[in-house]
Amino acid sequence: MGALLLDGKKLSLDIEKNLKIRVSKLKEGGIFPHLAVILVGEDPASEVYVKNKEKACDRTGIKSTKILLPSSTTENEILELIDLMNNDDMIHGILVQSPTPRTINEILITEKISPSKDVDGFHPQNLGKLVQGELGGLMPCTPAGIMKLLKQSRIDLAGKKVTVIGRSRIVGMPLAILLAQRGIDATVTIAHSKSKDLAEICRESDVLIVAIGRPEAVKLDWIKPGSVIVDVGISRINDSLTGKSRLVGDVSSKAMEVASYMTPVPGGVGPMTIAMLLTNTVDAAAKTKFN
Ligand code: GUN
Repeated sequence: MGALLLDGKKLSLDIEKNLKIRVSKLKEGGIFPHLAVILVGEDPASEVYVKNKEKACDRTGIKSTKILLPSSTTENEILELIDLMNNDDMIHGILVQSPTPRTINEILITEKISPSKDVDGFHPQNLGKLVQGELGGLMPCTPAGIMKLLKQSRIDLAGKKVTVIGRSRIVGMPLAILLAQRGIDATVTIAHSKSKDLAEICRESDVLIVAIGRPEAVKLDWIKPGSVIVDVGISRINDSLTGKSRLVGDVSSKAMEVASYMTPVPGGVGPMTIAMLLTNTVDAAAKTKFN
């Protein structure tokens, strides 16, 4: 029996439908939700991600402005640009696409963005709220999208052994906190490149969430039968058998054969990340009404 799909594409379209209505209402009240995306350098994958974000903004009526900067841009120049955007009442969300060139300190950039416009949810103030269990604010998009997808599919996490592979600032760390929070109550393991016996850790996991950016690193025989698999990775590989390129996740797609639920790649986590970014942007715009 094959796994049921955790269909992020479908859920994201439902979310977009609701957002479109909220955006129309905001516009009637004179608020025009507006996301500014800064892309520094020429990373082909980031260019695709940013294009997808722009398209999603178009679909929901959110204005988006893309600022492309050369890789020679200095940290100070980016900080000054963010300062201008922080003070621009017509911009509600600011996002600097990661990764930036190595000369740029991403933490400094994150700290510069006004917490009320931090639609990535990476500002220490927003992450601090998340640690304290205050979840009404701007939340990191991929972790929030995964939690929504699991909830929508009625996957009960209470008391379950949940392993998150990958400890990034963007996905793994905030996600582990959300999973362990009161009310969700998962028993969380954070595994990473230094973890010993990773295959064994996976085999013991009721829910496995993989965010390491390494194509098909998690093999079929690492999967506990009946477990839930969330694959955050997306990489393009050349298939030696067909000679064609294709998109794969961090988990072998054969895991579908034994898992109970699994996210497809593409069409699983990716669309949910974008849906949460749009949600954060609309929430940020809606809050300006009361200023
Ligand atoms: N790069 C990959 N994912 C993300 C994300 O969610 N936000 C930003 N800013 N950059 C990313």
